[in-house]
Amino acid sequence: MPANLDPIQDRLRATLPEARVQATAVPGLRDLHLALINADFSTAPLAPETMRAVIANPAYWAFCWGSGLATAIWLQAEPQLVTGKVVADIGCGSGIVAIAASLAGAREVFACDIDEDALLATQINAELNGCEVKLCQHVSELPEHLDQVWMADVLYDRSNLPLIQKVKDRAQSVFISDSRVSDVEDPEFEIIHQAEALTFPNLGEFDEFRQVRFFHCQR
Ligand SMILES: C[S@@+](CC[C@H](N)C(=O)[O-])C[C@H]1O[C@@H](n2cnc3c(N)ncnc32)[C@H](O)[C@@H]1O
Repeated sequence: MPANLDPIQDRLRATLPEARVQATAVPGLRDLHLALINADFSTAPLAPETMRAVIANPAYWAFCWGSGLATAIWLQAEPQLVTGKVVADIGCGSGIVAIAASLAGAREVFACDIDEDALLATQINAELNGCEVKLCQHVSELPEHLDQVWMADVLYDRSNLPLIQKVKDRAQSVFISDSRVSDVEDPEFEIIHQAEALTFPNLGEFDEFRQVRFFHCQR
């Protein structure tokens, strides 16, 4: 694992000075490693200034969210879903879905996130796993024609609902995995798969967020 973690170490410590990034195997996945926050990170209440910094710049990329993990587990079990396809992972965070798609045999993989730190983390995590992922910050920068788009745990922010139409305009097939929404408010989507997964390292989420629904739209 030759990747240099220092750049994301610095980014994490800018908001959480006590935390560290470490490369770790992700539970439930075969041969997939990510640089994530240390599993024994302190869950004690944060000082007000630290809390303000975290809210201003949340390091989502330092966790593998339940929906991303459930998606990666599904792609390891059923690689034919992506084999040979040009795919994009929107809201890539650590890059978990992009990396799982690449390892499952996708022909070309794009990873998109509005957070520059997430793109840096995804680049480092792709290197950790020996795969190639192309990065962009906005959906508008993606190729106009993709085979598939995957979006894991991005709709926690309901203001992201318009993203659905934007990705439908670019891809014949859209997969949305989410543990927080039960309805994507688009009649073209149907639930095609469900799984249980928790965010890693454990954030102590409520049990209701264990259940990940996979919504799919094929045009
Ligand atoms: C909860 S994290 C999920 C990360 C990853 N998909 C996973 O499952 O581990 C949500 C990610 O979506 C990104 N995000 C939020 N809104 C976005 C948008 N409009 N376009 C692209 N990325 C977005 C955030 O920056 C964050 O990295």
